[in-house]
Amino acid sequence: MYIKDIKATRVLDSRGVPTIKTFVWTKDGVGSAIVPSGTSAGKKEACELRDGGVRYFGQDVSKAIKKINTTIKKKLVNSFVIDQKEIDQMLIDLDGTNNKSKLGGNAILSVSQAVLKAAANELQIPVHKYVAGLNKTKKQKMPIPHLNIINGGQHAGNNLSFQEFQIVPMFNSFEENIKASVEIYHTLKKDLEKKYGLSAINVGYEGGFCPQLESSFDALSLIQDAIDKCKYTKKVKLAVDAAANEFYVRNKYLVDGKEHTSLEMIDYYKKIIKEYKLVSIEDPFSEDDKKHWSCFLKEVSKTKVIGDDLLATNPRLIKDAVKKRYCNGLLLKINQIGTITEAIDAFNIAKKAEWNVQVSHRSGDTEDAFVADLAYGLASDSVKFGAPARGERTCKYNRLLEIEAFKNYSL
Ligand code: PGA
Ligand code: ZN
Repeated sequence: MYIKDIKATRVLDSRGVPTIKTFVWTKDGVGSAIVPSGTSAGKKEACELRDGGVRYFGQDVSKAIKKINTTIKKKLVNSFVIDQKEIDQMLIDLDGTNNKSKLGGNAILSVSQAVLKAAANELQIPVHKYVAGLNKTKKQKMPIPHLNIINGGQHAGNNLSFQEFQIVPMFNSFEENIKASVEIYHTLKKDLEKKYGLSAINVGYEGGFCPQLESSFDALSLIQDAIDKCKYTKKVKLAVDAAANEFYVRNKYLVDGKEHTSLEMIDYYKKIIKEYKLVSIEDPFSEDDKKHWSCFLKEVSKTKVIGDDLLATNPRLIKDAVKKRYCNGLLLKINQIGTITEAIDAFNIAKKAEWNVQVSHRSGDTEDAFVADLAYGLASDSVKFGAPARGERTCKYNRLLEIEAFKNYSL
């Protein structure tokens, strides 16, 4: 059960950017993890250590890899692999900064996650079951998927201000949810091609289509039409990630080619909620415009308001947001905070406040499907892994499909 060796190497994420893959060996087994990376990252996220300079245009991770292969390895070899909390604390202490800038949040997370997988392997139990044990989850459950089928903002080469237009299927099984989503995705594809030509079906970072549209209303109405055509009107809802940090300039929001004040944005959101009955809105305001998060939350009742860049999966920021009532949902991204233990703390603080928790991928993601196991192991309310297309997205949906299909088997 002791860690025998640790080694990291460079691999690529879905955007063609270097990232870290780390292996942790015990006597009889091994666990590995690849870290994802964001494009529209929040300011409070754990620091990603990148080399700078000319290799890979400054994006290389050789320094972070070296730290894993030397400093971190030296510290962790011979630790008990199932002591996740202690190991994560050792990593936090070894780094010593409050944003993980010395070793790099990317280096730390790859080790934290690989340790967890090595431990599950050692115990010969599924990763989700090991996660459930770590957090004493009473009843594991399949999360509701949010599938991002039109991409905008920093994830697409179009003029949509909002980053993600999502469908949220509400059937009784994960398999039915994916089936409905795939049918809607392909219906939308056909409609887009017919209406706007072939270039409209190009896809963005998360596999959603990137048509040139005038406004968020156009994107939502195209998706609603596809849902209606498939006869899923009652069972499939809509949601949005505005990622408002990205269009907040000099205290104004640049949306649909026009400047809006924060109060005008509240009206804008109320209008889309009324028209499209959104189940959630993520990052409706900038992380620097906290006052309007609270104003907005008072005005919405059924729609969940989810904090992503605002909270950065950071327990301290989540506690503050609970107290000040900025939002009532947490987007949980493990690389925003950097260790599994802190991510689970974040989950628990949010659940204690009766928030919704959505486990999320990043726009720069990989074939590592760990977040699917994490979501099922923690019994999170929902997940978002992008469109039902592109390998780095489908591997996570596929993992939940296989877990559901073979519930009584150990996998
Ligand atoms: P990111 O986008 O991974 O580029 O940050 C995802 C999100 O904002 O939810
Ligand atoms: Zn977001």
